[in-house]
Amino acid sequence: MTRAGYRLIDTAAAYFNEEAVGAAIKKSAIPREELFITTKLWIQDAGYENAKKAFQVSLDKLGLGYIDLYLIHQPMNDYYGSWRAMEELYEAGKVRAIGVCNFYPERLADLCLNARVKPMVNQVELHPFFAQTGALATMKEFGVQPEAWGPLAEGKHGIFTHPALTEIGAKYGKTAAQVALKWNVQRGVVIIPKTVHKERMEENLGIWDFRLSDEDMEAIGALDLGHSEIIDHSAADTAKFLNGWKIHE
Ligand SMILES: NC(=O)c1ccc[n+]([C@@H]2O[C@H](COP(=O)([O-])OP(=O)(O)OC[C@H]3O[C@@H](n4cnc5c(N)ncnc54)[C@H](OP(=O)(O)O)[C@@H]3O)[C@@H](O)[C@H]2O)c1
Repeated sequence: MTRAGYRLIDTAAAYFNEEAVGAAIKKSAIPREELFITTKLWIQDAGYENAKKAFQVSLDKLGLGYIDLYLIHQPMNDYYGSWRAMEELYEAGKVRAIGVCNFYPERLADLCLNARVKPMVNQVELHPFFAQTGALATMKEFGVQPEAWGPLAEGKHGIFTHPALTEIGAKYGKTAAQVALKWNVQRGVVIIPKTVHKERMEENLGIWDFRLSDEDMEAIGALDLGHSEIIDHSAADTAKFLNGWKIHE
């Protein structure tokens, strides 16, 4: 990953891989200050005291002195308590930036209106089939940087061979995946595409030498379905499922 040129690692307590990420960072020759490490607080560890403890566990598993970005993984359980802990971690310099994930507009606006330190990032599902332009407007209003998880729609909707994306890409000598990623970048979204294949890592990184035209941007925007086909955060079943996901005793 780092050999391909990547410097951002997005992990989470709920991914059960913080120790492996820490070991890889230690093994790599990349200086710590060149890496950007994100990890996330899980629902089970929400609340002021729990969040402080969980942060230390993550830091120890990663074997780091600080985290670049610490995120609340889901807008569930006592996330206001978590946020107070995260504000303190930020002020103490243990995390360089704090933010949230999956905060849909009403929860994000409410947190921004009531927090001492506003979230700096909101990591949400964002790709051509779920464009979330309204949510982006709310983030802009509150100065929150959008970051796309699932920027390749987790491979759904035939995205890698999608006719409209492929046709646009052909004009620039780029793939459908590169077009989808560039579309998000051009609308001000940070992207964190995931792949375990080196050649795909290189492909996904090769998006800085072209620019989509306004017409291309509009055509890609027209692919929006207006809903996610990965997860519905407004469903009670989702809250039940996620709250039921335990990462420790
Ligand atoms: N905060 C949250 O709630 C949340 C939720 C989900 C994900 N995330 C984060 O967001 C990151 C990215 O999202 P994601 O993994 O869900 O989805 P994604 O990046 O949209 O899609 C990943 C899938 O696309 C394939 N792929 C990647 N590049 C490709 C290419 N150029 N050509 C063909 N196939 C390609 C990968 O396969 P191979 O690996 O086999 O190449 C994998 O199956 C995750 O790693 C995670 O860190 C956060």
